[in-house]
Amino acid sequence: MKVVCLGGGPAGLFFAALLKQADARHDVTVLERNRPDDTFGFGVVFSDATEEALAKADPRITEAMAKHAHRWDDIEINYRGEQWVSTGHGFSGLSRRTLLGLLHERCQAAGVRVCFNHDVQDPEAHRDADLVVAADGANSRVRERYREAFRPSLDERPNRFVWLGTTRPFPAFTFYFKSDAHGLWRVHAYQYEPGGSTFIVEATEETWRSAGLERADEAATITFCESLFAEELAGHRLVGNRSIWRRFPTVTNARWHHKNVVLLGDAAHTAHFSVGSGTKLAMEDAIALVAALGEHAKVPEALAAYETVRRPAVESLQRAAQVSLQWFEDTERYMTLEPIQFAFTLLTRSLRVTHENLKLRDPAFTARVDGWFAERACQAAGVPAPPAAAAPPPMFTPFKLRELVLANRVVVSPMCQYSAEDGMPNDWHLVHLGTRAIGGAGLVVAEMTDVSAEARISPWCTGLWKPEQAEAWRRIVDFVHTNSAARIAMQLGHAGRKASTQRMWEGDNQPLAEGNWPVVSASPLPYFPHSPVPRELSAAEMRTVVADYVRAARLAQEAGFDFLELHMAHGYLLASFISPLTNRRSDGYGGPLEQRMRFPLEVFDAVRATWPAAKPMSVRISAVDWKAGGHGPDDAVQVARLLHAHGCDIVDVSAGQTVEDQQPVYGRLFQTPFAERIRQEVGIATMAVGNISSYADVNTILAAGRADLCLLARAHLWDPYWTRHAAFELGYKLPWPGPYATLDRYRPRFI
Ligand SMILES: Cc1cc2nc3c(=O)[nH]c(=O)nc-3n(C[C@H](O)[C@H](O)[C@H](O)COP(=O)(O)OP(=O)(O)OC[C@H]3O[C@@H](n4cnc5c(N)ncnc54)[C@H](O)[C@@H]3O)c2cc1C
Ligand SMILES: Cc1cc2nc3c(=O)[nH]c(=O)nc-3n(C[C@H](O)[C@H](O)[C@H](O)COP(=O)(O)O)c2cc1C
Repeated sequence: MKVVCLGGGPAGLFFAALLKQADARHDVTVLERNRPDDTFGFGVVFSDATEEALAKADPRITEAMAKHAHRWDDIEINYRGEQWVSTGHGFSGLSRRTLLGLLHERCQAAGVRVCFNHDVQDPEAHRDADLVVAADGANSRVRERYREAFRPSLDERPNRFVWLGTTRPFPAFTFYFKSDAHGLWRVHAYQYEPGGSTFIVEATEETWRSAGLERADEAATITFCESLFAEELAGHRLVGNRSIWRRFPTVTNARWHHKNVVLLGDAAHTAHFSVGSGTKLAMEDAIALVAALGEHAKVPEALAAYETVRRPAVESLQRAAQVSLQWFEDTERYMTLEPIQFAFTLLTRSLRVTHENLKLRDPAFTARVDGWFAERACQAAGVPAPPAAAAPPPMFTPFKLRELVLANRVVVSPMCQYSAEDGMPNDWHLVHLGTRAIGGAGLVVAEMTDVSAEARISPWCTGLWKPEQAEAWRRIVDFVHTNSAARIAMQLGHAGRKASTQRMWEGDNQPLAEGNWPVVSASPLPYFPHSPVPRELSAAEMRTVVADYVRAARLAQEAGFDFLELHMAHGYLLASFISPLTNRRSDGYGGPLEQRMRFPLEVFDAVRATWPAAKPMSVRISAVDWKAGGHGPDDAVQVARLLHAHGCDIVDVSAGQTVEDQQPVYGRLFQTPFAERIRQEVGIATMAVGNISSYADVNTILAAGRADLCLLARAHLWDPYWTRHAAFELGYKLPWPGPYATLDRYRPRFI
C-alpha cells in the first residue's frame, strides 16, 4: 500500500513508524514542512496511564521516552499566598523536540521516508496514493481543502495564552494564580528535561488588553512576563519559541474520513492544554488507525472502523477538556474560595478526578479537605465538629437553613408518581417517600403537589387545596419524622399550560384523550402544536393563584412539612412567566426579566409571609431553556439574585423543559455548572440536580463548593437505600432504625 502522511508531528510520525513496523511492504512517506530540528512549543505531558497504553503498541518508543522524560507525582497550587501540594498524580514531561527526534529515529529504523522542508500546498496532488493521512495539525490545510466532507468546526476560546520556556526547574506540575493591576494571571508550568520547563501564561481577554499586550511582540511579552513573575521564576529567564499570544482553538469534525483521506491528531480534534492530552490523543489515533488497517482489507472500511473506535474516547476527553478550559476561563469566579477548596476545585475541575479518585491518589490531602469541610459545616449548623481525623465524607456533614438542620446533604429529588385520586396522597406515596426516608437521605422532597384541582399536571397528581389532603400528607410526614432521621419538604406547583395531560409513562406532556380542562399560562401559546391553547392569566386570576399558593402553604404547615419548595421550573405556570419564550405579555408582567419575574415573586412573597419564619424555602428554577432566544446561564444568575433579595434560602437548579423543541446538552452532572455559578456569583446556597448518581460525584460537588445539597431522582428510584449504600461503601456508620438494627452486624455480599 502506498501511504502519504501530510505532516510530521507526533501523529504522522508515530503512525508512519507503526504502519511500516506492522508490514514492511508498505511504501510510507511523511511530508513535513519544517526542518528536523524546528519545533514549536517546549514540553509535552504524558500521564502514567497514557505511557502504559503507548507501551503496548511500541515498547521501544516508550522506553526511549522514559529515558529522557522528567517524572513527577505532585501538583502544586499557588494561590493567595498559600501553597497546596497534592501527590499521587503520576505524570512525565518530555521535550517536544526530543519526542520528535525519537519518532524520527523510529521512522528511519522502520524504513519510512521522511521528507523535511516539504510544504504541501494542495493535498489533491497526493490523492493517487492508496491512503492520504492528514496529520497536519490544528490548522490543517487538508481538512480545509475537503471541508465539505469533514464539516469541521473551530471554536476559538476567549482566553489568551502564550507558550514560553524557562530554565527554572519545577519539582511539581505547578500552577500560579497571580493578580496585578490588570487582573488575574494563570501560569501552568512543568519541567520536561533538566534545565527546561514549559511556562504557559494565560489571562482573560480583558486582563490581557488592559496590560496592553495586544501590541506586544515576543520580546515585549517576555519582558512583561519576566517582570510579573520575577518571584516565581527565582532568577531564571524566560525564553520564546514563536511565543505569540494565541486563543485556543477547539477543533471538531463531523467526519474524520473522506474516500482515501483520513484526519489524525490535532487535524481531527484538539483538547485544551490544561488536560495535557493533545499528543496522547494524536499518538492513540495512530495506534487505532494502524490496527484498523490491519483488520480491514479495504481502506474505506478501515477508515470507518478507525473513526468508530476512536470517536467516543476522543469526544469524552474533549468534553473533559471543555470543562477544564472553562474552569480557567472562569477562574476569577473562584477567587473568593479558601485556598484548600480552590485547590480541590482545580484538581477536580474536569470531572475526571473525583473525591474518590483523589482519595486513592492522595489520602492525606483528601483527609484535610474532609476535615476542613466538616469543621465549617458543623460550625454553620451549630453542632459539635468531630476531630479532623474522624471527619465524615462531605455528603455526611450537616446543613442548616434557618432553624432546620439536615443530618446529611443527600436529597431525594421530587418525583411525580401520578398515583393519586382527587389530589389525595395514598399508601403508594407513604411507601415511596417512607422507604426513601429510611434509605438515609437527609431530605426527602414530595412530588410537585398542586395548589388547585386545575393546577394539576394530570388527574393523578397530588394536591393541597383542601384539609383532607393535608390530613393525608400529615400521615406521611409523621411516618418520616417518627421512623427516620430525614426531614421532608413539600414542592408546590401549578402546571400552567402543561396541565391536563396524561401520565408521564403514557404520554409525557400529551393532552388527555378525554376529560381535558381549560389551561392557563403567561401567554396563549400551546406546548405542542396540538396542545390546547392556554388562556392568558388575567390580573384577577393572578390574585386567585396567589391565594391558592398561600392556602396550600398553610395546609403544608398543617401537615407538618419541614421545608417548602416552589416550583418555578420546567415550563409550568410560574416558569412560563420567567422565560421569554413563553411570556409575550404586554402588561407589567411581561417584557424585561424584572417584569417577567414580578408574578413569580409576588407568589413567593405571599407564601414566604405565610410559611413559618423558622422554616426554609427553596425555589426550583430552569437555569437555561436549551433554546435560542430563551434563558441562558447569565439570566439564571439574575433570577437567583432576585430570589435571594426576596428571602429565598436556597435555589434548586434544574434546567429546560420550557419548550418542546429544546436542545439540551445531557451528560454526567450536566446541570451542576449552573448551580455552581449561581452559588459563586450570587452568594446564595444551591441544590445541584441532574444526572448525579455516584457518591464520588456527590462528595466532589460538595467539597468543591459547587452546591450545598445534591438531589438525586432516578438514582433514588433505582435504589431507595442509595444513601445507605454510599455510607457502606465509604465506611461511614449510618445508624439503622431499631427494627433493622441487626444490620449493624451484617455485611452484604453482592457477588
Ligand atoms: C500551549 C499548548 C500546550 C500544549 N501542551 C501539551 C501537553 O502538555 N501535552 C500534550 O500531549 N499536548 C500538548 N499540546 C498539544 C500538542 O502540541 C498537540 O496536540 C500535538 O502536537 C498534536 O500532534 P499532531 O501531530 O496532530 O499535530 P502537530 O504536532 O501540530 O503536527 C503537525 C505537523 O504538520 C506539519 N504541517 C502542517 N501543515 C503542513 C503542510 N501544509 N505541509 C507539510 N507539513 C505541514 C507541521 O509543521 C507539524 O509538524 C499543547 C498544545 C498547545 C497549543
Ligand atoms: C419519575 C420522575 C418524576 C419527576 N417529577 C418531578 C416533580 O414532581 N417535580 C420536579 O421538580 N421534578 C420532577 N422530576 C425531575 C427530577 O426531580 C430531577 O430533576 C430529574 O429527574 C433529574 O435528576 P436525575 O438525573 O437524578 O433523575 C421528575 C423526574 C422523574 C424521573
